[in-house]
Amino acid sequence: MVKNFIDISDFSKKQLNEIISLAKKIKKNPKKYSSFCKDKTLGMIFEKQSLRTRLSFNVGMQKLGGKVLELNSKDIGFDNKRETNQDVLNVLAQFIDCIMIRNNNHKKIIKISKQNVIPVINGLTEQSHPCQILGDFLTIQEKFKNYNNLQITWIGDFNNVLMSLLHLQKIYLFKLNVVIPNKILNFNKQKIKYYSNKNLKFLSDPLLGSRNSKCIMTDVWLSMGEKNKNKIKYFKNFTVNKKIINTASKDVIFMHCLPAKRGQEVTSEVLDGKNSVVLQQAQNRMFIQQAILIYVLKK
Ligand code: CP
Ligand code: NVA
Repeated sequence: MVKNFIDISDFSKKQLNEIISLAKKIKKNPKKYSSFCKDKTLGMIFEKQSLRTRLSFNVGMQKLGGKVLELNSKDIGFDNKRETNQDVLNVLAQFIDCIMIRNNNHKKIIKISKQNVIPVINGLTEQSHPCQILGDFLTIQEKFKNYNNLQITWIGDFNNVLMSLLHLQKIYLFKLNVVIPNKILNFNKQKIKYYSNKNLKFLSDPLLGSRNSKCIMTDVWLSMGEKNKNKIKYFKNFTVNKKIINTASKDVIFMHCLPAKRGQEVTSEVLDGKNSVVLQQAQNRMFIQQAILIYVLKK
């Protein structure tokens, strides 16, 4: 069986701890790992824009001694039209050892991964962004040694990044306040039920949800490919600003996966302020993904 990295919920706490621990080791001593992916090639397909994921996978793989090939799914006919996706995958496997895909079709990524030909890594879909959240967990662990009792607060949309955060919370059971506009909460009632546990609260008041929080996280109100632009109106009072930061714990960190819409989900004052760890977050993407690459490529 090939190993994939599709969703955090596919892994045990032990496996995730191993990946995070490897990421920490690579960050500490990158030279030791500089030929771990020698003679391996990573293929990358981006069907949506990307700066951080593109750069961190590309540079990260090269630093492990591997090669990277960026492929355009239209150009190579990875759309079940010229030939089947299965046939494309079988040919790809003659040349590359692993594929990272970013698309708007989570089901397609799962289907490709189940074909068991080469490891598939989810580089963001409309449903989840596991590399982001696992990298963010690494950043949180660097900032707070005792992260078990941590209060984390998500303020924003019910989106792909939040879904991966919910997957992670269900495994590690840290305290998580999810602050979402009422209208959007109601719309996601079924999902909320599934994730319910004693450390997880769903609220709609950003100030209430931020009290004593050590980590405030947000993301854009409209994700890539979203059609319902009207929903922005529900986010009145949801901008992460100084008042929200001041309500949280004194040593709170502010996190955002980026790209950010300054003045919408976060003020520039907070994004560029002393509590913000957004650039460390972006950099840590590389270390966590290097660990993921080593994990999926290891026989
Ligand atoms: N955070 C993140 O995934 O950024 P990109 O969309 O630029 O890759
Ligand atoms: N929720 C955002 C994350 C971008 C990294 C999006 O999907 O556009």
